[in-house]
Amino acid sequence: MNTADLSYKVTSTEDEDKQTFLQKQGEIPKHIAVIMDGNGRWAKSRGSVRIFGHKAGVDSVRDITEACAQIGVKHLTLYAFSTENWGRPKGEVSALMRLLVQSLRDETRKLDENDIRLVSIGELDRLPPTCRQELEDAKELTAGNSRMTLCLALSYSGRWDICQAVKTISQKVKEGELLPDEISDELISGHLATSGFPDPDLIIRTSGEYRLSNFLLWQSAYSELFVTDIYWPDFRRDELYRAIESYQNRERRFGKVPSRMDVDESSVALH
Ligand code: IPE
Ligand code: IPE
Ligand code: MG
Repeated sequence: MNTADLSYKVTSTEDEDKQTFLQKQGEIPKHIAVIMDGNGRWAKSRGSVRIFGHKAGVDSVRDITEACAQIGVKHLTLYAFSTENWGRPKGEVSALMRLLVQSLRDETRKLDENDIRLVSIGELDRLPPTCRQELEDAKELTAGNSRMTLCLALSYSGRWDICQAVKTISQKVKEGELLPDEISDELISGHLATSGFPDPDLIIRTSGEYRLSNFLLWQSAYSELFVTDIYWPDFRRDELYRAIESYQNRERRFGKVPSRMDVDESSVALH
């Protein structure tokens, strides 16, 4: 049995200083969600095949998971495979599924050792049986952990999520368990795959694309967005810290007036 110490350590004093600075400067987002994009272009820019980029992306997942746990993020959701990604060439899809199985085998003990709970969202029935089994085992092993929840969005899309919630809610209405008038914002949130998680405070997208690509459509209503040109395999903790710093310098108004605006100013009459 491998008895290596797998606990997360301080990578450098410089890194620790950056984390402490951000913790002191402002609020650390409770939930960060990441659209991990650009693996194929990263590989192409190196004259290599796309799967090489996906493999390199696993190192970024490891570093970002560790940094988020260390800095105090409570929920990290990673968009790993979308509903639409099933439409990619067969060879790429099966290579991605194999990579998922291998990564779960390699990384789960380390997650467990560091008190991280693994969960997933998405249409898991579509995953190959070995993937499903490996995922179930990892979830079961880490179910009691509480430092941070790492959520893998697999075979996931926001529209799928909304559809499955609508189906469950309509069934409840049909069976008389629920009245149509009882359908509220909170009730819908409670039927989404992310039920029980706070909405993402910050959504990061790598590779310079300014779109959500069917990710957390309902949950992102008031998320702050951060787009970086960096391809996912090059995205490491220093860029994560830049995203958190940018988040800390924003004012989240949720449709209200700026918090520093006093009552007199906001109630100036139009005459
Ligand atoms: C993201 O990288 C990984 C998945 C969507 C599975 P891509 O494979 O989309 O890489 P690009 O966007 O083509 O460079
Ligand atoms: C979004 O990336 C999905 C994941 C990161 C898993 P895509 O590469 O699939 O998105 P588009 O095609 O650029 O919108
Ligand atoms: Mg892409």
